[in-house]
Amino acid sequence: MCGIIGYIGKKAAAPIILEGLRRLEYRGYDSAGLAVLGDSVLEVRKKLGKIDEGLAPLVKTSPVTGTLGIGHTRWATHGVPCDENSHPHLDASGRIAVVHNGVIENYDLLKQRLAKAGHKFKSTTDTEVLAHLIGENYAKRGGSGKEALVTSVMDALREVIGTYGLAVICADCPDLMVGARRGSPLIIGIGKDEHYVTSDANAIVAHTKKVVYLNDYDVATITAGSFEVSNLGADTANVQISNLEFSQEDAARGKHAHFMLKEIYEQPQTILNALRGRLDFEGATAKFGGLNMSMAELRSIDRIVIAASGTSWHAALVGEYLIEELAQLPVEVEFAHEFCYRNAPLEKNTVLLVLSQSGETADTLAALREAKRRGHRALAIVNVVGSTIARESDGGIYMHAGPEIGVASTKAFVSTLTVLTLLAVHLGRMRMLSANRAREIMKALEALPKQVEKILAQNETIKKLAQKYHKAEDFFFLGRGYTFPVALEGALKLKEISYIHAEGYSAAEMKHGPIALIDADTPTVFVVPQDSMYDKTMANLAMIRARKGPVIAVATAGDKAIAKVADDVIYLPPLLEPVSPILATIPLQLFAYHIAVARGCDVDKPRNLAKSVTVQ
Ligand code: M6R
Repeated sequence: MCGIIGYIGKKAAAPIILEGLRRLEYRGYDSAGLAVLGDSVLEVRKKLGKIDEGLAPLVKTSPVTGTLGIGHTRWATHGVPCDENSHPHLDASGRIAVVHNGVIENYDLLKQRLAKAGHKFKSTTDTEVLAHLIGENYAKRGGSGKEALVTSVMDALREVIGTYGLAVICADCPDLMVGARRGSPLIIGIGKDEHYVTSDANAIVAHTKKVVYLNDYDVATITAGSFEVSNLGADTANVQISNLEFSQEDAARGKHAHFMLKEIYEQPQTILNALRGRLDFEGATAKFGGLNMSMAELRSIDRIVIAASGTSWHAALVGEYLIEELAQLPVEVEFAHEFCYRNAPLEKNTVLLVLSQSGETADTLAALREAKRRGHRALAIVNVVGSTIARESDGGIYMHAGPEIGVASTKAFVSTLTVLTLLAVHLGRMRMLSANRAREIMKALEALPKQVEKILAQNETIKKLAQKYHKAEDFFFLGRGYTFPVALEGALKLKEISYIHAEGYSAAEMKHGPIALIDADTPTVFVVPQDSMYDKTMANLAMIRARKGPVIAVATAGDKAIAKVADDVIYLPPLLEPVSPILATIPLQLFAYHIAVARGCDVDKPRNLAKSVTVQ
């Protein structure tokens, strides 16, 4: 949700922090702020609004100098977005500054106690309470020195209930930055005579590729020349230095107007990345390096529960169709946030599979932990290497899609579907899937990048359609079978970035109620490739036409019947049904993108949203 960056070294901290915040802005953009240690005084600048409209002009008119600093970009949880609620927050003395991601659940109780002791608060945030708590501990310890600060942070963290990724600096300690995590990521970046902390490696990849991912309850004591990590719950911390696998260029927008468009256009490559080294034509199966399960263990799975959120949940629905058809294994799809709390029975040989682009979604992480707590094996399909879900799962498969910066997920969805198809083939070949059928599907996967390019070549046609329909206030997206989840995803993309009310349904479900909403001003996007559901979907389409609803069809090239009944058609190449969701999704991404642009919306930073949802 929010983003953290901190710097300690010999360079000017403010430009590094500002640049880092720009790279983090997709994580939260209500407001931003920084604190830099100047001449024994903390200089704090913070401002409502996006960085280049608020904080950056403020820092320009009111500069800060110093080589130690922390910064934050905010997605509001406690308290409205405003200057006062922006981070960093100071303690009562004004000598300790804190930036924090996560939620302090017992902040109200702590606030009452501190208020009774005379503390005055300037904001309505939980983070300011934490800053005051650290400050109170520090004052009790005599209020000076590195050791006192680190112990004060640790004592405060022992008292709080909730989640945090945080960075703390103090005016008395010019060579110290303290970082800590529980439930919200924090990474140390290692440089030469300098260190960084951040909640997201994108912010520091331009400076260093050597990083340490902190674990829950870790507290890091960081100076320019060294760092130490201890753990609040264990005698020793597990510190491993990793290398970032992506570059600054991968995380840049390049020639494209928006990250979302860039990421849509990257899909031929990201599909290739998801397939690379995983197609075994000789054995007619897919192979993976990291599932950490023997053939016998995989063979003994009786049921898979897939838990995910948002777009990843739509991918899970496609996964259900794939695994049930190709492997004949029962699959249940759960919203991650429902799965954790409803005490669903899990039989002995049930495996949980979680899907997550970021690998940090709090709901999905909670589902993973719940399954593990109950003694089940938990696998994950994740994009971000080294993310919490990737590290806590028992095994899994990386998407290798590269950084996804646009808040609306595109390439990660398609990569997840690609990996799920491979997994379904893998599980299927241990059961009843014939070698011929497996090879047919694998060939269809191999053909995808070129087919995606053909769809991308229709960008101008789709843009014109978007211009025709961009004033509609309500939309339906309908599909059946494999393309039902695609319809859900098409509707989500449109509502997220254009703020148009859009509903995704199974085309068959319309007649049970929602069709009451159809009229001449309510367009319906029908995903209707020539697959096993074609005749039935066409019958559903006729029902919409009979109510004068405009129809935009996503159909198979060469389908003559569709041109007669739809107002507009976007054509897909002929395709094999199990891979149809991958291709059918792409025109819907472009359609949503161009509608949002036509409506003047901020595509990459839609209102109220943040890229990675690290609160429950
Ligand atoms: O990182 P995750 O895949 O776990 O994220 C899950 C959802 O928060 C995410 O897909 C969200 O729905 C996106 N904004 C969709 O575009």
